[in-house]
Amino acid sequence: MIDVSSRLPLVRPDLPQRRLLRTAVPGPRSQEVARRRAAVVAAGVASTLPVYVERAGGGVLVDVDGNSFVDLGSGIAVTSVGNAAPAVSAAVQEQVERTTHTCFMVAPYEEYVAVCEALARLTPGDHAKRSVLLNSGAEAVENAVKIARRATGRDAVVVLDHAYHGRTNLTMAMTAKAMPYKTGFGPFAGEVYRVPASYPLREPVPITGEEAARRATAVIEKQVGADQVACVVVEPVQGEGGFVVPAPGFLPALAAWCREHGVLLVADEIQTGFARTGAMFACDHEGVVPDLVTTAKGIAGGLPLAAVTGRAEIMDAVHPGGLGGTYGGNPAACAAALAAIDLYEHADLVGAARRIEARVVPRLRAVAERAPQVAEVRGRGAMLALELVRPGSLEPDAAEAARVARECAQHGVLVLTCGTYGNVLRLLPPLVIGDELLDEALDVLEAVLEGRTPPPAARADDAPERAVGASGPPA
Ligand SMILES: Cc1ncc(COP(=O)(O)O)c(C=O)c1O
Repeated sequence: MIDVSSRLPLVRPDLPQRRLLRTAVPGPRSQEVARRRAAVVAAGVASTLPVYVERAGGGVLVDVDGNSFVDLGSGIAVTSVGNAAPAVSAAVQEQVERTTHTCFMVAPYEEYVAVCEALARLTPGDHAKRSVLLNSGAEAVENAVKIARRATGRDAVVVLDHAYHGRTNLTMAMTAKAMPYKTGFGPFAGEVYRVPASYPLREPVPITGEEAARRATAVIEKQVGADQVACVVVEPVQGEGGFVVPAPGFLPALAAWCREHGVLLVADEIQTGFARTGAMFACDHEGVVPDLVTTAKGIAGGLPLAAVTGRAEIMDAVHPGGLGGTYGGNPAACAAALAAIDLYEHADLVGAARRIEARVVPRLRAVAERAPQVAEVRGRGAMLALELVRPGSLEPDAAEAARVARECAQHGVLVLTCGTYGNVLRLLPPLVIGDELLDEALDVLEAVLEGRTPPPAARADDAPERAVGASGPPA
């Protein structure tokens, strides 16, 4: 393995960091690709932006018409180290010159082992750990359930209201929201039980995290039986469900109940992991040490890689050959992960996420004072959200969230929506975005929320470029 990361900048110097609109959105070339798409791409695959991306990096996505959008989505929390981060691209290039695939189950290689070493070092807890590498988040969740069942000899899997764990058959059963994730796709896997989550904004009466955990565990005890449960699977901050941060004490109380009853706690850190929330893992905020952790998304800077990492004795309860898959831990994805992890650890990306929170949250709170449809500003680190409602009520306003996201896109800013009720705007900027570019994106978002005309994007190539953020190249 070659260390290619230490000499490289965080963002390609030839990719200007600016919001630039040369054409209306979508431009003519994007419209042409959209016409081709309609003829060959399945209608079930939807896209947020109506443009087609040609290159990306730092805080921008550049489309085939040359329009440059501020990226507040990171490919759904994936390109936290930046899109096509030079260190990641170089590591992948170096790797694919040597091998593209051997299948770790056939002819193993060192990069897989090195990624598992990094996961053992970085995931919560200092106990002995083992990992298995996979391709997608859903595959990691499926494997975590397999491992938990094998290790405990129990069948039941407990998940929370508002949960999102993926789109495969088992993970559809674990995901809460029917439309668009489940409707018409059943029958679903059995032995999956859903219990109430902690969603502070929507509690009819405010309750503590401990009380919310007791409410959940009481349902498990009455309706499932604690001794039947293999694992409880939780997102420490719920992602697709609406960036819901549970009340303080919820996760520790749930972890304590699991320990008491021999139930494994699985933290699904697929969206929250790798510096995103201002800690390496979101469980770290409350000192929770899960038995198993699922990771994906940010782990490899944009290449498909996922993992289950857990206590050695639990992971090793599975017989040889019981885990794996043709592509899991592909060498190019492992090389990307090693370069990305080097950046998380040495370019202070945890600090970058915290600085983004400190910069963005006061502005969002101020806009919440002026925009009556904003019910709550919440999140951790660079995983931040606004929940939108009909003013004066808690009635979710999905149409307003869609309007804001659509108008932001028309003005060169990519903002995603999420939430059980579809009424949450979520901000997931790359952790390397520059401060000025982030401020400019917030100027647009604020104006759209307040019904004002947003500041115009630059129209020509001589538009000022914005400095790249984070802390510069790793030492
Ligand atoms: C918390 C969580 N779990 C699982 C998944 C599924 O990951 P993938 O889309 O890679 O299968 C996601 C994806 O958004 C996620 O946010």
